[in-house]
Amino acid sequence: MQDQDSDSSDTPGTRRGFVALASAAMAPAPPTPIPKGVRWGAPTPPHQVEGNNVNSDLWLLEHLKPTIFAEPSGDACDHYHRYPQDIKMLAGLGFNTYRFSIEWARIEPEPGFFSNAALDHYRRMLAACHENNVQPMLTFHHFTSPRWFAAQGGWDDPASSGHFTRYVERAAKRLGDLISYATTFNEPNVPALLSWMNFSFPAGPILEKAARAAGSDRFGSFFLGDREKLRDHMIAAHHSALAAMKSGPGKYPVGVNIAIGDDQAVGPDSGRDRKREEVYGPWLRAASKSDFVGVQTYSRARVGKDKDLPPEPGVELTQMGYEFWPEALGETIRYAAAQTKVPVYVTENGIGTEDDSRRIEYIQRALGAVSKCLADKIDVRGYIHWSLMDNFEWMFGYRPKFGLVAVNRETQERTPKPSARFLGDLARRNGA
Ligand code: BGC
Repeated sequence: MQDQDSDSSDTPGTRRGFVALASAAMAPAPPTPIPKGVRWGAPTPPHQVEGNNVNSDLWLLEHLKPTIFAEPSGDACDHYHRYPQDIKMLAGLGFNTYRFSIEWARIEPEPGFFSNAALDHYRRMLAACHENNVQPMLTFHHFTSPRWFAAQGGWDDPASSGHFTRYVERAAKRLGDLISYATTFNEPNVPALLSWMNFSFPAGPILEKAARAAGSDRFGSFFLGDREKLRDHMIAAHHSALAAMKSGPGKYPVGVNIAIGDDQAVGPDSGRDRKREEVYGPWLRAASKSDFVGVQTYSRARVGKDKDLPPEPGVELTQMGYEFWPEALGETIRYAAAQTKVPVYVTENGIGTEDDSRRIEYIQRALGAVSKCLADKIDVRGYIHWSLMDNFEWMFGYRPKFGLVAVNRETQERTPKPSARFLGDLARRNGA
């Protein structure tokens, strides 16, 4: 395990940090020892914040008529131009880690044509992190791909792993010396997860229309494609991309971010274990051959025979319709750590809500669960809260509010919410 913090799995400071943090969540925090190495942060992904990601597959899907998107991403948060202020704001709030992703569609807008200008843009973002004493955690793929890649069949195409690896190799060569942590994919298991969540789209007609718009006879989409082909090709791509990063400049740990719910079996014939094997199994095994696992948890799921069951009547729901269940995080950390036996970073955890006081309670209780994991000697090394700012929530458009910071959609003005101060203060007191 190569780790910038070089804290071993037994680093007591890291555990103390979270235990102190848990007590901070319960009562006004006493001064706490500053542990070395705990990563505190907030992430963003390119398509959801940068704006005008016009060469991506999603941009095309958003502009089909009719479309399954509530609204197009448009300017998003204009983070492509405003990143210097945004990274400064993140550091000023007290965070020591910025998890962000680079956009393949900008870096390789045509097959085999790489934009040095786009790579230099991301180099400047990495440099801005270091200038602000923030360590960057870079993700190479967060759902979107170049439009040409989709027009060749996307992840359904056996050539997809090779295309992705070539892009990663090229990007890692130019950026590697500035990377602190990296992950290959964000939630590559989401399509498998959606199949248990009663989430269905009229995929066929949409993909046909998209293919025509892209001037092709096919259009492979991450969300709508063939789940088994996608899984196999992405796992192969994960391993080859990891090897490419290891042979480039820089020495940084590489993992993968996995969407994991706290799955609770309901009824004697619950398919919980089958779901776990289908949805997480292949990716947890991939993570176990990596340097760390990124755990991304939002809620629990009550798992019936073949599908997730709806939340029980009367329970509190978030804007996404998930149950308000912050304790899920403790269960998913335990599960991921036991399956992979590598260090855990919580790389996403959050809540869509207009009521920021619910976000604060969510954070308090989620961190309480993290501290119990640490007390049980589970190697948790960071907490990265989704998301730095309100952004484009895919098919749901801009309505769900996951941000610690509000964004005025007309003026792009950023306003930190009380939750940003709350979590940032914890980070400042306990962070490196
Ligand atoms: C994804 C994000 C998304 C968030 C909230 C995660 O699954 O990585 O892109 O915005 O959940 O729904």
